[in-house]
Amino acid sequence: MCGIVGYIGSQKASPILLAGLTKLEYRGYDSAGIAIIEDGKIDVQKDQGRVSNLYKIKEIENLNGTIGIAHTRWATHGTPSKENAHPQTSNNGDFAVVHNGIIENYVELRKELEEKGYKFFSSTDTEVIPNLIDYFYKNDNKNQKELKFVNAVKNATDKLVGSFAIEVLSKENPDNMIVVRKDSPLVIGKGYGENYIASDIPAILSYTKDFYLLENLEFALLSRDNIRFFDKNLKEFNKKSDTITWNAMAADKNGYEDYMLKEIYEQPTAIRETIGTRVNTGICKFDELNFTKEYLQNLKQIYIVACGTAMHAGLAVKSTIERFSKIRTEVDIASEFRYRDPLIDDKTLCIFISQSGETADTIAALKLSKEKGAKTLAISNVIGSSITREADYSIYTHAGPEIAVASTKAYTSQITLLTLLAIYLGQVLGNVKEQEVSKLVNEMLELPIKVEEVLKTTEKVKKIAKKLYQEKDVFYLGRGVDYTTAEEASLKLKEISYIHSEGYPAGELKHGTIALIEKGVNVIGIMTNKNLVKKTISNMEEIITRGAVTTAVLSESIYKDINTTIFDNLIIVPDTDESLSSIVTIVPLQLLAYYIAKEKGLDVDKPRNLAKSVTVE
Ligand code: G6P
Repeated sequence: MCGIVGYIGSQKASPILLAGLTKLEYRGYDSAGIAIIEDGKIDVQKDQGRVSNLYKIKEIENLNGTIGIAHTRWATHGTPSKENAHPQTSNNGDFAVVHNGIIENYVELRKELEEKGYKFFSSTDTEVIPNLIDYFYKNDNKNQKELKFVNAVKNATDKLVGSFAIEVLSKENPDNMIVVRKDSPLVIGKGYGENYIASDIPAILSYTKDFYLLENLEFALLSRDNIRFFDKNLKEFNKKSDTITWNAMAADKNGYEDYMLKEIYEQPTAIRETIGTRVNTGICKFDELNFTKEYLQNLKQIYIVACGTAMHAGLAVKSTIERFSKIRTEVDIASEFRYRDPLIDDKTLCIFISQSGETADTIAALKLSKEKGAKTLAISNVIGSSITREADYSIYTHAGPEIAVASTKAYTSQITLLTLLAIYLGQVLGNVKEQEVSKLVNEMLELPIKVEEVLKTTEKVKKIAKKLYQEKDVFYLGRGVDYTTAEEASLKLKEISYIHSEGYPAGELKHGTIALIEKGVNVIGIMTNKNLVKKTISNMEEIITRGAVTTAVLSESIYKDINTTIFDNLIIVPDTDESLSSIVTIVPLQLLAYYIAKEKGLDVDKPRNLAKSVTVE
């Protein structure tokens, strides 16, 4: 996730752009840059590191141009560096582009452009865009300049597969700017004789309250005192603006009451961006890993080590990794693993999951594994974090900065990435059937839509939260991967609502814990696995007999199949492959924990006693 700002008006553009980027820095901060049109040419200034570095660039201070675009980056393709920072330009410098999102077919497009003589200077997916625009612009002899510009951007975006929010500057059109988006946010702020662009409203809220919220594949051609809108076929239309009434504080959270809620709602995007360009015609690509078939065949075991929610992500994919790699896979808590002299050697692959990449126990466990000769692979959300610097290999989730202490979008992104990794291991080993993989990959590509569907259950979940918020204990039950979801759901509730809860294997309840079930105790049963549902229902019946109040979380097909009248509350989630069910199932339970905490009037983002990143033992 990155931040975008743009300005066209009569004021000097650079201070407005830099101020906007500073407000958006929470979206990404490994490199930043701006492009401004001045004296008939596009001047690009960028650097690695934080936005504050741009303030130190003398040239920016001296730029007096009144039209410009800007970007703060959270690297997806290519390491954080000056070359990979945005804006990216066409070879001849005639076009400059900033881009949020991921161009999934950039490798093919790059090849096509190389055949036409274009050269590439960065490892970004973005660099194809200005060059495509340049190509179409040059080859259009029919239209006058302004229409040529719009046509070229449209023709270029027609070729893009993936998600994007794009701002484009053209040297030949120094009084215009074009923006377009698909599955990545972008808004236009309307001023008097000036217009603003941003990926997030907060960046420009101090200048205007009138916004155009651009829809997918709507193009806007901006000049200083006009904005023309075109649909995906370039048919011009009128668009109504919206007036925003948020205060600045709320705006930081993009209109959400808390970061946690915002982050829960960002999950479709986080999953989409984590999948990114890794799946191509049924093949899972991990170019960062050079695992050979021989190396993997020699492995005796895989260890997944992490803390908290990250450890639950490991549990959620353990059987998927075993299913595809046929290698025994264990999941361990970092603070236990590091002190129990684990049996690992060079025939062990150790995977460490850490959203922040700074968790002390996880880093110590990694160092220990290295000492014992194992290869280490870090999975983190933060490029360049400590764990990724220590590990032999690193791969990243692209969830964007997670600010709320209770982890949500990092969890679902970690499961997404680990599932892709499982397929990759199976493919390198030659263990997997093409059909099986393509079925799972298709399910993965559907996940963002399914999570969006689940988010529509919010009102229902709120009602259940109102019934539960005064409880002292809540039990979550499940079998198989639903048990892992139960553990994570229970952790969410404990973290932010301070209600005691337990995630329990449904079949184990009767071996002790059922003694705690009495009239009125709340139990949430998670049932998404057709083969196990009957068993879990029996366990639920056992506790219903003892007076428990029950909420059932069911996948759609199970809901249609069973008698649901025995439950007090129902939450229905879409069907998906078993290995992915934790992703769709956890979302309503994150929301449940959130709304219970809200009912109790608690500070959801900063729960007592907890820290986002535990950098001490
Ligand atoms: C803390 C946080 C949890 C998080 C855990 C691991 O306990 O409160 O939300 O899951 O650390 O963090 P990591 O950054 O390593 O994923």
